[in-house]
This record gives sequence, structure tokens and C-alpha cells, in this order.
Amino acid sequence: MNITKAMIPAAGLGTRFLPVTKSLPKEMLPIIDKPILQYIVDECINSGIKDIYMIIGRDKDTIIKYFSSNITKEHSVKIHFIEQKEPLGLGHAVSLGKEGIGKEPFALLLGDEIFVHSNPILKQLIDVFQIKNHSILGVTKVKREEVSAYGIVQGEKTDSFINIKSIIEKPSPQEAPSTIASIGRYILTPEIFPILETLEAGYHNEIQLTDGLQKLLEIQNITGVFIQGKRFDVGSKIGYILGTLDIAYHHEKYHDDVKNYIQKLFL
Ligand code: G1P
Repeated sequence: MNITKAMIPAAGLGTRFLPVTKSLPKEMLPIIDKPILQYIVDECINSGIKDIYMIIGRDKDTIIKYFSSNITKEHSVKIHFIEQKEPLGLGHAVSLGKEGIGKEPFALLLGDEIFVHSNPILKQLIDVFQIKNHSILGVTKVKREEVSAYGIVQGEKTDSFINIKSIIEKPSPQEAPSTIASIGRYILTPEIFPILETLEAGYHNEIQLTDGLQKLLEIQNITGVFIQGKRFDVGSKIGYILGTLDIAYHHEKYHDDVKNYIQKLFL
């Protein structure tokens, strides 16, 4: 089955990026000359997505204005906006996309991370979904001291996959069952929606997608796919700096200047 619908939640408070996020959604921070959200939308377009459901919050106007100015019209993708009136958590944000998504499997992309690889990360997951026909999570190994920033999975592992047995949201380094993290790229089947509706608030008093996935495991296999490519956690300040630097360094127009400047720093 083809995946043609994607959901992008962009309604978070961006607390890791204060103070600029007091007035600008973190997803609108620029990398060179495009907001982070545009990189995520491009990943969707390059993976065959036709409809994007963007969940937007209190700073919705800047996002709507940007995407209404026809830059995506040349591509055959339609962006639909859905408002999340209160920041009740990622699980709640995803539940709001239910009507638009309907009964199809769909892609979910979070704005915290961008990837650099010739084969888009989302496409890598879709290819595995087409073989497995159940929910798929993008995963990667992180350092033990970093586990409390992620949903951490545990299960039977091969070089490329992990057959997930459990998932826990932001455990402490001591309690984490592994150091394999979910990286904000998912293919989910619509069975997730009724589960999300019954969830109570979890970690950080928010309705957590991770808790929904743990329940989904009771009725469906979930495969984690070790993603190929360079990953930048652009929701953190250092990840944003390094991501910007890497993209500028590989940019046709800025490569030489960036390289010369970095060399000069070490003289
Ligand atoms: C979210 C998810 C978490 C996942 C992470 C990936 O957390 O809740 O499970 O590992 O994205 O970026 P957030 O970064 O929104 O706090």
C-alpha cells in the first residue's frame, strides 16, 4: 500500500529554544534561507506524499502565511492546517489528524530533526512499511546520557531492524532499557487513533504518542528501522548550529566561504 498522507505537528512551545520561540515557532527558524518546516515538507515531497496535515498552535499565523505563498504549489502537495488549541502533548496533536487521515496508514514527521541523505529518511521507512505492512519507527543509537530526550525502544535487534517489544518516553540513563531512540519519523496505521483517544496524560503531564505506541504493541508488531544518513537535532541549539554549518558547507554557493572561514579559525 502506498503512503500518500503525512502529518507534521508544529504546535509545540519550543522551550528548548527560548527566548526566540517566545514569538517564533521553532519550526520556522531558518537554515540558510528556508525554515526548518520547509526541509520537512521537502522530505515529504521527495518521498511521494500528496497531502500534508500540519498541526499548528498559538503561532499559527506565521506558518500559514509562509505556506500560503505558493512555494509548494509547483509540487503536487496539498497542505491542510489543523489547529491544536492547547498544548496537551504529541499524542493529542496526532489524534487531531484523524479525520483528514481517515483509514489509511500515514507518515508522521516531527520538526525536531532534519536529515541529510540522498534517499530521504521517510522514503527509507515507507520502503520497509511496504514489506512489513505494520507500523514503522525510525530509530538510531544515541549516547546513554542522551536517552532522556527520546522515546527509547527495546527488542530483538539485527543490523538494520529492531523488532520492538517495548517503548518508554524519556527514561533516565539508569532506567533506559537500551540506547536505541525513536527519531521523530514514523509510519503509523490508523489503529493508533482509538488508542490515543483513551490515553491519560503521561510523562510531563502530556498525552504521549509513546504511550499510545506501547499500547499499539499489544495488537500489532512495530518495526524500528535504523536510519541511514546524517541527523541533526535542530530542536536543540547545538544541533541547530551544527546542522546549519553542515548544510552551508555542502551548499554550492557557500561551500568555499564556509570552508575558508573554518580554516582561518584554526590558524
Ligand atoms: C518526541 C517524542 C519522542 C521522540 C522525539 C524524537 O519528543 O515524544 O518519543 O524520541 O520526539 O525527536 P520531543 O522531542 O518532542 O520532546
